[in-house]
Amino acid sequence: MRPLRQRRPALAQLRFDERRAAFAGLPLNERFALIHRTNLWGAVETPSGLGSEISATTQIRSGLQTLLDRYRIRRLLDLPCGVFGWMAAVDLTGIDYIGGDIVTDVVAANRAKHGAPGRDFMQMDLLEDALPQADLVLCRDCLVHLSFANIDRALANLRGCGARYLLTTTFLDLPDNGDIEDGDWRPLNLQVAPFKFPAPIETLLEGCEEAGGDYRDKALALWYLDDLVPE
Ligand SMILES: C[S@@+](CC[C@H](N)C(=O)[O-])C[C@H]1O[C@@H](n2cnc3c(N)ncnc32)[C@H](O)[C@@H]1O
Repeated sequence: MRPLRQRRPALAQLRFDERRAAFAGLPLNERFALIHRTNLWGAVETPSGLGSEISATTQIRSGLQTLLDRYRIRRLLDLPCGVFGWMAAVDLTGIDYIGGDIVTDVVAANRAKHGAPGRDFMQMDLLEDALPQADLVLCRDCLVHLSFANIDRALANLRGCGARYLLTTTFLDLPDNGDIEDGDWRPLNLQVAPFKFPAPIETLLEGCEEAGGDYRDKALALWYLDDLVPE
């Protein structure tokens, strides 16, 4: 596996680099609203980016279903939910689902299209809003778009939310982490500095094929939130 600086750039990085100037001075919600409005991440199927296309989620869709069952998850907070594309293909029978996203228009469209009894969508900011009660928080492909300072705020908010489990994106073989501005992208390994998470309870490899396979160590990893004590 190539270390961080030798991996070929992902499309989200290239696209953000091209438009970086348009983000100067924008607050967090407007950054992601602009990304959605302009389909900045460049995927054909979904404004949530290549990682959210149906073909990119084959492995995690089946793995997630098994995991939710194994840990008896009855209430799932999917934060962020993006446009609820691939998640619509997961069987959530028997699970109360709440999808949250910082972009108001995305949440409104999800509610109109996918809202149902036991399936709700709310505008929320992972960094600072009081989070609804859940057994497990799924935070996929989000921290990778945030600065270190805002990841710290997100993790502090998650630690206090009362959920038992966090299932989130990490790149298992990445040797080190780098900082970015909000809205850009880079891979993160949550087990190395500055996060130093313990070994996860389990991991679901995604089978990521982006950039010629340079990100094939991309995974969803499961932790007890109580184990994620700050340094
Ligand atoms: C790459 S998409 C991933 C969406 C979804 N998890 C998936 O797997 O398809 C990242 C999403 O994070 C949302 N987001 C970014 N920062 C956020 C924050 N602080 N609170 C809530 N949502 C946020 C963006 O609006 C965007 O929809």
